[in-house]
Amino acid sequence: MDFSKIAAMAGGHAEARAIQTAIRLGLFDALANAARAGDELADALGCDRRATTLLADALTALGILEKRPNGYALTTGAAHYLVASSPQSLGAMILFDAALWNEWGRLEDAIRSGRPVRPPDMFQADPAAAERFIRAMDSLVRARGDAAWTAAHLDLSHARTLVDLGGGPGTYLVEFLRRWPHLRGEIWDLPASLKVARQILAERAPDLQERIGLSEFDYRAGEPPRAADAIFLSNIIHSEDEAVNARLMRTCFRALRPGGLIAIKDHVMDDAMTTPAAGAVFSLYLLLTTRGRDYSFAEIARWITTTGFDQPQITALPNPPFNSSIVNAVRA
Ligand SMILES: C[S@@+](CC[C@H](N)C(=O)[O-])C[C@H]1O[C@@H](n2cnc3c(N)ncnc32)[C@H](O)[C@@H]1O
Repeated sequence: MDFSKIAAMAGGHAEARAIQTAIRLGLFDALANAARAGDELADALGCDRRATTLLADALTALGILEKRPNGYALTTGAAHYLVASSPQSLGAMILFDAALWNEWGRLEDAIRSGRPVRPPDMFQADPAAAERFIRAMDSLVRARGDAAWTAAHLDLSHARTLVDLGGGPGTYLVEFLRRWPHLRGEIWDLPASLKVARQILAERAPDLQERIGLSEFDYRAGEPPRAADAIFLSNIIHSEDEAVNARLMRTCFRALRPGGLIAIKDHVMDDAMTTPAAGAVFSLYLLLTTRGRDYSFAEIARWITTTGFDQPQITALPNPPFNSSIVNAVRA
């Protein structure tokens, strides 16, 4: 690897923080309707003129803004992904990353101790943190398009009831229900996450309310509330250790009717645990905040087959933009 690439990665925190700061200040929203000169932009944000110009120049150098004779303007990418009102806004995910700045600063502690640097409670203790977390998941999945792709490719024609276990914002469930009109869906999740799900579903899918149920369920402790024909788990197993995941597969097995489908979507690593690269790096975030890590197909397949499911199949989503795969298995 050459010098420039190593140096750019080692200093990547500066770029990340510039973008996070611009989102927090509402800089992209302030440019949504028209270009603005540096001073005008600073005044609109209530910030220092010289400093705002430095930030706008840096964002221009990164290719996020354009500098035109009439001022700074959004590029197409910035208009799509960085303006809060865009349906593909990644803003909530960027705010979540910004909120984890101090945790990343303690990576060395986590590597030395092997333990997370915050309580691995999935942000349930603080309603504001839970809302930031769940809205971040929604924004990432909508900006990248994971839910739309998954709903178009996962065959749910034989299922009447689908559980989105740890469904969070319900982004996937909404796409599944739109794709499969015969389907009824449920989110089983923790209380603080369900509270946010309720708000998001009321905003985005009032037409689907009759077909969606929300149930409090802690998969680490409880028994499944009801039987289902299919269970979908997106970005769940990576937050748990191996023993909990093995037990989770047994819980899903008990909840599924014979012939029922389990579908697990996650970064699914190769045996070397280094591909996809985004998954290997994401495991560091998981080290900081959870008891988990990303797992390989061999590991997931072992939990699944030991539980009594048929041999699982894996489908990788196209990369780029995606970094994940879906592992499917049927309860015999
Ligand atoms: C990383 S988010 C994934 C959300 C969604 N499935 C997605 O992929 O966008 C993890 C979700 O699992 C839920 N969760 C975590 N631990 C749980 C538990 N013990 N029981 C039920 N749900 C849990 C969280 O509340 C959150 O909604």
